[in-house]
Amino acid sequence: MQSWVIGNWKKNPATLTEVNELTSAIKSKFLQKQSSQDFDSTCYPQLMVAPSTIHLVMASQSLEDTSILVGCQDISAKSATIGAYTGDSSAQQMVNAGVSWTLVGHSERRSYHRETEDTLITKMRFAFEQGLGVVFCIGETIEAYDLGKTIPVLEEQLQILKSLPNLNEFFDKIIIAYEPVWSIGTGKVPSIEEVEKVHQAIKQYVTGINASLADAPILYGGSVNADNADQFAASKWVDGALVGGASLDADKFLSIADSFYQGKQQLNG
Ligand code: PGA
Repeated sequence: MQSWVIGNWKKNPATLTEVNELTSAIKSKFLQKQSSQDFDSTCYPQLMVAPSTIHLVMASQSLEDTSILVGCQDISAKSATIGAYTGDSSAQQMVNAGVSWTLVGHSERRSYHRETEDTLITKMRFAFEQGLGVVFCIGETIEAYDLGKTIPVLEEQLQILKSLPNLNEFFDKIIIAYEPVWSIGTGKVPSIEEVEKVHQAIKQYVTGINASLADAPILYGGSVNADNADQFAASKWVDGALVGGASLDADKFLSIADSFYQGKQQLNG
């Protein structure tokens, strides 16, 4: 399975100049890697960056001649297209801006914007209607983790996939990102054994919802950095990483990609 390394830039960087520097650095380092003689495209992860909405056009223009994809962090839950919704940007507008995927269900949106299950389902529906893929983020709080309730909490979050019509048609447009809330931005990560157990449970659960989801990549996210990526990359249960803080540094981001590249090469023998 193709692995993925996705950078979630959140509300960073502050200026267009810095966005330009970051995208240019990622692009040139990736192109350099890609042009090396022993580059094996079948094992190299698919790269994607998800800048702030206001920076999407600039990032997608800068990356348009590369295989690096641009994702957005959010889409409107009010309409898939246009309308009188002050402050919103629709899935259609994202596609027109050069975006191919959107995050949905990130814990920061669930908590700071109180996004409900209905909101998430609507966003996913609008995304698919407009041809966007969805990186569906799920994760348990520290309280749930301490009570040993991680898997039931994740299953509860995943069950909304049952509400999506014609899921079969979108099997290649769903990525699941397991991000423990307590791990995001804290430097704390679960052990690889815990992550593997959770990813197996996720796969089993989503396959039960729809057999076509057996092939949905399952990424780990939460404090992934250049120093800890190897352990995730070496696991056959981890199909990539959703990276926040470390994705704002081109060297660190590409180093995480390298970990998954090497991990995949080893797994493929
Ligand atoms: P982090 O963020 O890598 O900074 O922990 C991950 C995320 O929120 O997707």
